Amino acid sequence: MTADQKMEVIPLLTPYKLGSFSLSHRIVLAPMSRLRSYEFVSQPHAVLYYSQRTTQGGLLIGEASGISETAQGYPNTPGIWTEEQVEAWKPIVHAVHEKGGIFFCQLWHAGRASDHSFQPNGQPPISCTSKPIQAKTHIDGTTAAAFPAPRRLTADAITQVVDDYRKAARNAMEAGFDGVEIHGANGYLIDQFLKDQVNDRTDEYGGSLENRCRFPLEVVKAVADEIGADRVGLRLSPFAGYNDCRDSDPEALGLYMAQSLNKLRILYCHVIEPRMVTQFDSQNTKDSLLPMRKAFKGTFIVAGGYNREDGNEVVARDGADLVAFGRLFLANPDLPRRFELDAVLNKYDRNTFYTHDPVVGYTDYPFLETGN
Ligand SMILES: Cc1cc2nc3c(=O)[nH]c(=O)nc-3n(C[C@H](O)[C@H](O)[C@H](O)COP(=O)(O)O)c2cc1C
Repeated sequence: MTADQKMEVIPLLTPYKLGSFSLSHRIVLAPMSRLRSYEFVSQPHAVLYYSQRTTQGGLLIGEASGISETAQGYPNTPGIWTEEQVEAWKPIVHAVHEKGGIFFCQLWHAGRASDHSFQPNGQPPISCTSKPIQAKTHIDGTTAAAFPAPRRLTADAITQVVDDYRKAARNAMEAGFDGVEIHGANGYLIDQFLKDQVNDRTDEYGGSLENRCRFPLEVVKAVADEIGADRVGLRLSPFAGYNDCRDSDPEALGLYMAQSLNKLRILYCHVIEPRMVTQFDSQNTKDSLLPMRKAFKGTFIVAGGYNREDGNEVVARDGADLVAFGRLFLANPDLPRRFELDAVLNKYDRNTFYTHDPVVGYTDYPFLETGN
């Protein structure tokens, strides 16, 4: 190989073995709620959206999908707890498989980041605590009326929720997904248990680090026992404070989770970079995911503010195995091809991230003219 050819190696475009899955590149579609699943059921227009973003041997993580009737916190997000929802996912998963993609379903429970209108019988949402979120801005950028005080789960009720995750994972497999990613990030139910600024319990699910991680690890174990640990990933954001969900020692939290996940031997851990101070804005920080990366023995996926240059850089220095791209992939359905050619990227339109149109801002971002 000549020196010039060597320089052409693009780390993001090198193959990677993710357990039993052979990835042809390391550019992952990050999970993104698009709020176009009317009445909590995935819609036929998602077939085009996901297949546009599929490449042979590419990994896609689906948008957050509610695990039970108490899980939702936004309008028009999909669910994976009813038969109708499972059936609705099938053609979408099939289309991704037809193009050779590997598709994971993100299992989600909003916890207290919800309100009465999304809950059965107008009840308050559930959480580890009865403290409401103080912030008035939703993670999707909309400003809400005050969040209601949640219902604090009893230990028995926690066992039920663990079982809801297990059933949802089974449903995801029934829908044809290759595996599931448990959403433990961004201030939703699992993150609420993890973080010491939210979790004020005095039973075995609160207090010490070990106790705060108990429910999240019970969920991971139940899901892994149900569908196989080699089909399970977990997403975490230890450093973030979205949805009023902060921890006083995020590094210790991340490390403890990484070590505990090793015992459960799950496929991957997917972590949001500390630089993401909000869902969308980043700033320089000395905090790093490297200790977590080194501690975790499975595949390590990073996300948050990545572009072609620093995505290549993090893979090249072994800071991650795979890199998930959110907004760039949203706006560039052929992102791997554009990275290959170092082509100009479409700009994303934030105004249509969460609108409900089946086409606009969803499937109408153009491909490169030379693209596939
Ligand atoms: C429209 C939109 C919806 C999102 N929905 C989810 C979601 O359902 N689950 C999740 O874990 N993260 C969600 N995120 C966060 C992204 O997965 C990602 O972490 C974030 O956009 C930062 O990565 P980026 O800088 O590559 O966009 C969402 C982001 C966007 C832009």
